[in-house]
Amino acid sequence: MTDKLIIFDTTLRDGEQSPGASMTRDEKLRIARQLERLKVDVIEAGFAASSNGDFEAVQAIANAIKDSTVCSLSRANDRDIARAAEALKGASQARIHTFIATSPLHMEKKLRMTPDQVFEQARQSVRFARNLVGDIEFSPEDGYRSEVDFLCRVLEAVIDEGATTINVPDTVGYAVPELYGEFIRTLRERIPNSDKAIWSVHCHNDLGMAVANSLAGVKIGGARQVECTINGLGERAGNCSLEEVVMAVKTRRDYFGLDVGIDARHIVAASRMVSQTTGFVVQPNKAVVGANAFAHASGIHQDGVLKARDTYEIMRAEDVGWSANKIVLGKLSGRNAFKQRLQDLGVVLDSEMEINSAFARFKELADRKSEIFDEDILALVSDESVTNEKEQYGFVSLSQRSETGEMPFAAIVFTAGGKEVSSQAQGNGPVDASLKAIEAHVQSGAEMVLYSVNAISGSTESQGEVTVRLQNSGRVVNGVGSDPDIVVASAKAYLSALNKLQSKADRVAAQG
Ligand code: KIV
Ligand code: ZN
Repeated sequence: MTDKLIIFDTTLRDGEQSPGASMTRDEKLRIARQLERLKVDVIEAGFAASSNGDFEAVQAIANAIKDSTVCSLSRANDRDIARAAEALKGASQARIHTFIATSPLHMEKKLRMTPDQVFEQARQSVRFARNLVGDIEFSPEDGYRSEVDFLCRVLEAVIDEGATTINVPDTVGYAVPELYGEFIRTLRERIPNSDKAIWSVHCHNDLGMAVANSLAGVKIGGARQVECTINGLGERAGNCSLEEVVMAVKTRRDYFGLDVGIDARHIVAASRMVSQTTGFVVQPNKAVVGANAFAHASGIHQDGVLKARDTYEIMRAEDVGWSANKIVLGKLSGRNAFKQRLQDLGVVLDSEMEINSAFARFKELADRKSEIFDEDILALVSDESVTNEKEQYGFVSLSQRSETGEMPFAAIVFTAGGKEVSSQAQGNGPVDASLKAIEAHVQSGAEMVLYSVNAISGSTESQGEVTVRLQNSGRVVNGVGSDPDIVVASAKAYLSALNKLQSKADRVAAQG
């Protein structure tokens, strides 16, 4: 048993399965680079066989990332596994993660397979994968609700075939900490070759216990890999949150006695990047990365913290990457300072053209807003997808009129397939009028299922960050836009969502 805890991040795979959280290839690449800066051990980059878009994202991440292992999910069949191996060809360290359901419910109702068929398929898939890549992870989906005897039989066989990591998912978030920990321990004790694999935990948060269950799997069960996502992003109530599990193990090293390789100083930047990319706002009281996580409002607490910080603080805000809101750049800052700041924030723009376009937008913003914070820069870079010439739609300009007693009106200019179009409409308010003007031309027919505005850095001088969630033909996407003018931010968010609706091909769903 080693004393190192492996951090396996699945933000780009299980996290992305959250309705609306789909990301473009470039967005995934940007997040993968931030995960590498965080020193995540394994990055699950996607599910290569699910769509061409996912294949390309896994491939791009495999080619770009040097320090972390890059992994692709794959169902337990030769076609999926071969596709995953193909996407991972350029990786410095590659892993294939193959899975098949083992619970009676899933085998009978979903797979319509007998236990013996599932056993054979699991075994053969691991054998096939092992001939392509040396590092193989196997997951019995809905493992926690599987029968122990059957699970032991399957897991012993896949370890014999060369699986190097065994992951035990609580797919539906049904576990409670003590029982989940004991479940992992039982499996490890009963399977004769269990010491040939690293044991991993993968918990969903349906009952709010994903972090607690994962930690119990580590402490009681002896697991040495935790699967988690930034901000706990994931289907339904999400996955185990990376920042919480990492800071629990670091802060309570006295109890867990384990090392984690994560460079926690990049946690807050990673959290913001994921939130701004997906439009999933982080709740203010979220542990570690919420805006209030280190804020002390009550007089007694403030007094205590001023006298001795550890009276009310168990972690230091700066250790997880919180810095006091500082003005980082202003309108006189040059391109080099901007480029350096992007680098410090972990943002890598691929081409000089992208840097120039982001810098032009920075200058434009600095003309309108005297104080530019890190959050502004990150938002500005997230906006890259809206202004990126590769995208179908791009924002150009907007004017709107609203007056008490008058019907608000908006006129917008945007690009559609490289050509500028103008459109106008009236609406209930200026935002409504602007989005109706876009829709009058695009006619996507998409239904808006969420609209939210958030002030990026707190005050009314701050940029507004708008999330628009659209649903069309069963697909759900989030678009994010930011601007000091929230009507413009709304139009950008709407165009960003339309771009995502356009670009995401239908994909095979991972059953996770
Ligand atoms: O939750 C789950 O079971 C999964 C598997 C595909 C590992 O995400
Ligand atoms: Zn999952």
